Amino acid sequence: MKQWKLLEPFTLANVTLKNRIVMPPMCTRLAAPDGSVTTKMVKYYSERAKGGAGAVIVEYSYIDELESRAAVCQLGVYSDHLIPGLNNLAESIQFYDTVAILQICHAGRQTTSSIIRRTPVAPSPIRSRVTSVAGLTSYSETPRELQTSEIERIQDSFAQAARRARQAGFNGVEVHGAHGYLLSQFLSPYTNRRGDKYGVDLKGRALFALETIERVRGAVGPDFVVGYRVSADEFVEQGIALGEVVEFAQLVEQAGVDYVHVTGGIGESAHHQAQPIYVERGHLLHLAERIRSSVEIPVIAVGSLDAETAEQALQRGAADLCAMGRALIADPELPNKIVQGKPADIRPCIRGNEGCVSGFFSGHSVKCEVNPSAGREERFSVQSGCERKKVLVVGGGIAGMEAARVASMHGHDVCLCEKSAVLGGHILEASMPAFKADTRALLAWLIAQLEQSSVEIRMTTDVTPDLVRKLEPDALIVAIGSDYTTPAVRGINGSSVVGAYDVLMNNASLGAKAAVVGGGTIGCETALFVAEELGKDALVVEMRDDILIGSEPTSAGALMERMERAGVAIRTGLRVDEIARNTLVCTDATEQRHEIEADSVIVAVGLQARKESIDVFAKLCPAVYAIGDYIEPKNIYHAFEDAWKAVLRI
Ligand SMILES: Cc1cc2nc3c(=O)[nH]c(=O)nc-3n(C[C@H](O)[C@H](O)[C@H](O)COP(=O)(O)OP(=O)(O)OC[C@H]3O[C@@H](n4cnc5c(N)ncnc54)[C@H](O)[C@@H]3O)c2cc1C
Ligand SMILES: Cc1cc2nc3c(=O)[nH]c(=O)nc-3n(C[C@H](O)[C@H](O)[C@H](O)COP(=O)(O)O)c2cc1C
Ligand code: SF4
Repeated sequence: MKQWKLLEPFTLANVTLKNRIVMPPMCTRLAAPDGSVTTKMVKYYSERAKGGAGAVIVEYSYIDELESRAAVCQLGVYSDHLIPGLNNLAESIQFYDTVAILQICHAGRQTTSSIIRRTPVAPSPIRSRVTSVAGLTSYSETPRELQTSEIERIQDSFAQAARRARQAGFNGVEVHGAHGYLLSQFLSPYTNRRGDKYGVDLKGRALFALETIERVRGAVGPDFVVGYRVSADEFVEQGIALGEVVEFAQLVEQAGVDYVHVTGGIGESAHHQAQPIYVERGHLLHLAERIRSSVEIPVIAVGSLDAETAEQALQRGAADLCAMGRALIADPELPNKIVQGKPADIRPCIRGNEGCVSGFFSGHSVKCEVNPSAGREERFSVQSGCERKKVLVVGGGIAGMEAARVASMHGHDVCLCEKSAVLGGHILEASMPAFKADTRALLAWLIAQLEQSSVEIRMTTDVTPDLVRKLEPDALIVAIGSDYTTPAVRGINGSSVVGAYDVLMNNASLGAKAAVVGGGTIGCETALFVAEELGKDALVVEMRDDILIGSEPTSAGALMERMERAGVAIRTGLRVDEIARNTLVCTDATEQRHEIEADSVIVAVGLQARKESIDVFAKLCPAVYAIGDYIEPKNIYHAFEDAWKAVLRI
């Protein structure tokens, strides 16, 4: 069996982690409105500790009832009345021999007056550029500049919060100095324009953090872990970058922290904090590596690490510990599966951010596109002692496969029929671009899980009423998915016109200049694929005023950045009326005509549910459930959630 460095124990100050896998802090909105710990939150973290992580760093918690709170239903550590709940949380993590650390945070300008009932504060009165996310108002206000006299009060709140964490039984605290919250606002020239001792140069900008660490240490004593999280690159113009952060890391080391946790990004560059699929895995590792070579204390690396990339990072000495956040939301059992020698069984995080991040942006509690149980452990759990039933699943796309897998885990007798010769449905073409490797991994995982299960799979089997009558299932799950939409445009059947499916599956031969009609995710990904992997000039033509409208914001940001790098051109506000041989004829909002030259035209205007009616099956089986794109073309999140809901209702 492979010897994993990830599984080696590691001593961090006065505690020993059983392995080098750390769950980084990730807000869940599972706390009560007053910031107290809830049963749901305990269940969520217990699951992750039970899964075998060496340490769990519990999400950012706010330290006072004044301006520190960043979000609704954020965890709080601002008062002693919260200690019993925090104690329950710490113990539920430690129960599994996992080290429990609590992150403590002050929002600074990254909050709103509707949350804190007063004007947000910051080192300088500079408004965040993140004024709206997913259509919701974000940090739109100009913050109030903190007076020097107020700084001591905030530092004391950090110290009191750390004292409470210790009293609650945590093994340590992590001071949140990253991601554009108050401490990182002080450190960065992007947000700190002060002329007093807390500004001007690195020494001044670092002072708030250094004094805070000193007070925190004073409050908790030497035998309690105190870590510091820093964004080593803010990925914004004038933001702090690696050079200064190396010096800063040395300063926090001297101030007495036990580890540095190296991350990246701020509110304005959120796609560098929780990197979507379009960003390379481990793209922050060089930051951790550089800092590790400059300090003596342990360094935690983070950023799209999975078991393999984390192991490689440790092997090459980029870090002492590896944090895997979304990977542990997607599969809390990740560490145990490595221990058991079954890394292939780890359900991969596909970095679509549809659930964890999008859930947060829409004000919901944490969810996961590939693990409906995350944050909903009670509702979406495998029920024991179900009556064994005969379940027929129609359609071997992602929804049908997940339904079959979960139904079989519930002990049902499951048959999955797929019309074509391959499993996967749309995920087959969706995962063709090299940049969709994570989606490909999910498909491979599902297929492997089905192969290990007792599900009977019948390929090239079109489910007909006759077949249903013959099989006599107790429950029928219809997952027949969606088809591509063909727009009613003159010339749509011309020889230069192809569909996104054929392009992605490499079934089309394109000219040097390709225009993609449709600026949704499918159109933009296809254009990126054409530019990056087929080496053609690509242009996206979109009828609405922008591309990727309605897409998960961090994914949209990263995809747009990558399209720009690949030279994909974008034309918005143009309705395509006609496709002539080498020309797209379009009209803008003022009915003005535009002609766009293209050797090939790729149609990617969306999907529509397959038309076959469920009624024909409804009469043949006592229980019929429609799931996935067949209800309405959406995404993997809905395919997985629908699959679970259907099985849990059987
Ligand atoms: C190019 C592209 C990229 C995408 N990228 C993403 C992404 O990155 N993230 C994301 O979340 N979503 C993405 N999506 C959307 C996602 O792929 C779909 O939401 C998802 O695949 C729907 O799964 P499904 O099983 O419901 O349907 P489908 O994938 O359509 O599968 C239905 C299956 O049923 C079979 N079938 C049909 N009729 C019968 C019958 N009578 N009997 C037996 N079998 C039958 C079909 O052959 C097919 O295999 C993408 C979609 C496309 C097209
Ligand atoms: C839903 C979500 C919430 C997050 N909340 C926090 C947080 O409370 N504090 C923090 O420092 N980082 C937070 N992060 C960043 C993560 O700790 C981590 O750095 C990031 O997800 C990248 O790691 P990963 O690719 O392993 O998920 C959050 C990330 C996600 C996805
Ligand atoms: S929602 Fe997506 S990105 Fe977030 S943890 Fe789940 S799989 Fe990963």
